[in-house]
Amino acid sequence: MQTQILSNSVNKTAYARADVIRYYLGVDKLLEAEKVLLEKLSPTIRDSKILDIGVGGGRTTKFLLSISNNYTGIDYVAKFAEETGKKYPVAKILCGDVMNLKEFESDRFDFILFSYNGIDSIANEDRLKALNEIYRVLKKGGIFMFSSHNRNYQHFNKLPWQQRFHFDAEYFIFFLHCLYHLPKHYQMKKHEIYTDDYAIINDGDHRFSLLLYYISIEKQVKQLTDIGFVGIEAYSTEGKLVERDNLSHWIYYLARKS
Ligand SMILES: C[S@@+](CC[C@H](N)C(=O)[O-])C[C@H]1O[C@@H](n2cnc3c(N)ncnc32)[C@H](O)[C@@H]1O
Repeated sequence: MQTQILSNSVNKTAYARADVIRYYLGVDKLLEAEKVLLEKLSPTIRDSKILDIGVGGGRTTKFLLSISNNYTGIDYVAKFAEETGKKYPVAKILCGDVMNLKEFESDRFDFILFSYNGIDSIANEDRLKALNEIYRVLKKGGIFMFSSHNRNYQHFNKLPWQQRFHFDAEYFIFFLHCLYHLPKHYQMKKHEIYTDDYAIINDGDHRFSLLLYYISIEKQVKQLTDIGFVGIEAYSTEGKLVERDNLSHWIYYLARKS
């Protein structure tokens, strides 16, 4: 329990850091699988009620606003809500935590997105609370789309230089950067969790600052099914429907409220 609380607060602190906020405010392109899935879903979710959880710097806001004016974004880092609200004045952007969506009545949204593995910054018990809250505020037949780190990834829990190694100036700088942060990585490793259902590990993200949740497709489908979601589909980082995948660092999921 202590480790779960610690990982939640470590992650929230990292997301509220000025360099991390600057990074997310500077990105606005959809990722490969997001393009495929959002194109596919567009006819269904056009002009519908959309909730974008963990909106960050609003990377997905521009696209979602282009298909619906009924768009709400939330983020638990106040600075993200403030800056993204300024960037997209027509959008409704709130500061809030997915674990308690009390400002929204049940069965409200047609489409909910929690993009770029944002859900993985939440430890297990709170992840289940968050998924239940998402289920509650989704309309019957509504769609939830998110991505989550893949525990079956071929490079799971390997240090960056164990994943790819080549000789050039860019790689050398990257290598020095990793070396510099190695003591922090070993500090963070003490708080890692490994269970049959999931793992929470310190990968290289944001200078080894996060404790992130990794889960296999099989376990993620079970977690969603237990909550009541149906029609669950998993996609690779290229946007291909998959049942097993060890090449994608994270997996995209679509799930419906029954
Ligand atoms: C990996 S970033 C992705 C940001 C943005 N969605 C994007 O794709 O660029 C994850 C975001 O989720 C937010 N977040 C994490 N846990 C959250 C929670 N419990 N409630 C609301 N937002 C959360 C973080 O503050 C951060 O902005």
